[in-house]
Amino acid sequence: MQDLDVALITGSLRKASFSRKMGLAAAGLAPPGMKVSLVEIGGMQHYNEDLEADPPASFTQFRQRIGAADAVLFVTPEFNRGMPGNLKNAIDVGSRPWGKSIWDGKPAAVISTSPGAVGGFGAHFALRQSLSSVNVAVMPHPEAYIGGVNKMFDEAGQLTDASTRDFITDLMARFRVWIDRFRGK
Ligand code: FNR
Repeated sequence: MQDLDVALITGSLRKASFSRKMGLAAAGLAPPGMKVSLVEIGGMQHYNEDLEADPPASFTQFRQRIGAADAVLFVTPEFNRGMPGNLKNAIDVGSRPWGKSIWDGKPAAVISTSPGAVGGFGAHFALRQSLSSVNVAVMPHPEAYIGGVNKMFDEAGQLTDASTRDFITDLMARFRVWIDRFRGK
């Protein structure tokens, strides 16, 4: 049987991003039969409905990639108590043209991260709110607000914090079960 195809979208564009590291760590901790691959959103133009007459490649490629995925894993930092603008833009791009949203009915999971103690809670819920509006089925539990993320990785980008590894491993196993619910299993 084919592996589940899970698209990983991270809210940070910087190379040394902790969110990206966390997303890649989650990909590595996914259960058998689940392939998680990073989808870059940094090069995407700002959404402008005028562009729909001749959509840019960054829009069409993103729509095709996410449309084909079985599920989406979001890992985001918090910017000023909300989600980063590039992540909101990607949600907007995927939601249009009207009636052709690639989000509709897609299962997803959300992880927020921060060096601070609150773990990106504000971004996490801003993201859940937008995903709810485009009918993405976000796994309710476990709730993943990862604080102190700047202390969790070694120089090679490996997640070395043992309790967080266990937590993410459990989350990914539950995500697998969540996705299967939408596949009639
Ligand atoms: C931040 N940061 C931040 N952190 C937080 O916990 N709550 C917040 O509201 C903000 N706001 C904020 C705004 C902007 C514009 C920046 C650049 C940063 C700090 C942020 O959590 C930190 O820089 C992370 O390391 C960014 O995530 P990545 O790039 O490591 O994934």
